[in-house]
Amino acid sequence: MSWIDVLSKIVEVFPPSDAYRFDETPPLVAPRPAENFVVVKPSNSEEVSAILKFANEKSIPVFTRGGGTGLSGGAVPTEEGIVLSTEKMTELEVDADNRVAICGAGVTLKQLDDAAFRHGLSFPPHPGAETATVGGMIATNAGGVRALKYGTMRNYVLSLEAVLADGRIINAGGKTIKNSSGYSLLHLLVGSEGTLAVITKATIRLFPQTRDMTLLAIPFPTMEDAMNCVVEVARKMLPMALEFMEKRAVEIGERVSGERWVSREGEAHLLMVFESFDEAEEAAKIAQSLGAIDVYAATTKKDQDRLLKVRGMIYEGLRKEVIEVLDACVPPAKIAEYWRRSNELAEEYGIELITYGHAGDGNVHQHPLVYEGWEKSYFEFRKSLLSLAVSLGGVISGEHGIGAVKLSELEELFPEQFELMRQIKLLFDPKNILNPGKVVRKL
Ligand code: LAC
Ligand code: ZN
Repeated sequence: MSWIDVLSKIVEVFPPSDAYRFDETPPLVAPRPAENFVVVKPSNSEEVSAILKFANEKSIPVFTRGGGTGLSGGAVPTEEGIVLSTEKMTELEVDADNRVAICGAGVTLKQLDDAAFRHGLSFPPHPGAETATVGGMIATNAGGVRALKYGTMRNYVLSLEAVLADGRIINAGGKTIKNSSGYSLLHLLVGSEGTLAVITKATIRLFPQTRDMTLLAIPFPTMEDAMNCVVEVARKMLPMALEFMEKRAVEIGERVSGERWVSREGEAHLLMVFESFDEAEEAAKIAQSLGAIDVYAATTKKDQDRLLKVRGMIYEGLRKEVIEVLDACVPPAKIAEYWRRSNELAEEYGIELITYGHAGDGNVHQHPLVYEGWEKSYFEFRKSLLSLAVSLGGVISGEHGIGAVKLSELEELFPEQFELMRQIKLLFDPKNILNPGKVVRKL
């Protein structure tokens, strides 16, 4: 009897299909999916436990999959084995008195947002595509445009139910905001990208509802001017979003969205969103005093959506022309320097970079356009680029994760930490069945 026959006695088994083969990683760097795998869709932690117990005994790789919206190949089944989809784990309960939502791993961001809203609360960070799942967002410590004010996924997870490689179910944390109870296994699992355990349920912190928004769109003559403004504004207040786009990124956003941005002048453009009109007014004054070409305010939802669409659709527009999307994060006051020096480095290699990102939190998205013979020189360039980010006080991934695409940089730039991560992996998953080959090199 094949292992698939045995597995099908534990849970319904589905054949491989494209829906479970890929994620949103740009194809040129995405890992190659295995030909043969099976898909299982457990409904609860007991079923996950039975699947993992079996897989662990037989040393069968398990690739946990949420919404498949990741950008680092984390959910791609790279070996023959089991894709464990969380799509049926969608239980969702809001405990409004304690301002938390208890979510199955497969609850989508949209479902969580809507449920919070129905209870007069909100889940403010917006850390991904609306079809991203709670489990997936936790597994990658997803960030998004509101991290400056509202933090990343890590700041919202109060407790986790997770299944260990051998099938043991653990519950870490509680419905509490505070927790000083020993090593934080909870935070070790946040960002572990399916390599340490399968997250099945989470308690997510909710907040009072956000208030009416005012959006500012501000072109600046130079990137340095724009970033001086970012620093000054963030010193005085915390906008809900503080995004930047270089000129070419604006043009791409316009083309893909079919909407017009406020101006085509200027090397760098800022988009700021505030929950208070007074703050927006103060920020506008700061921008004017720091050389803004103009300041455009959008107060109606229609105008705001139009401008947000220009920013929001850049990646969609670039996806097919780029080698990949990078997401290094540098101290916000170093963005202009990082941008200039990155472009100099790119020029040495004959590479064209298109850049935009989350200026408020320092997360820079750089898109190298595909060029003839890129396979030969690109990865060397990338290593120098990510080293530059680290030398400025940054990190190699702010929100997209290591997945299958940045292992060598993690290993080379942080050898001691990489070794510790490998040992932690070994402790949690001695047979290396959980998302093998992701984050840490194959053991
Ligand atoms: C964005 C994605 C690429 O910020 O993270 O648009
Ligand atoms: Zn981003």
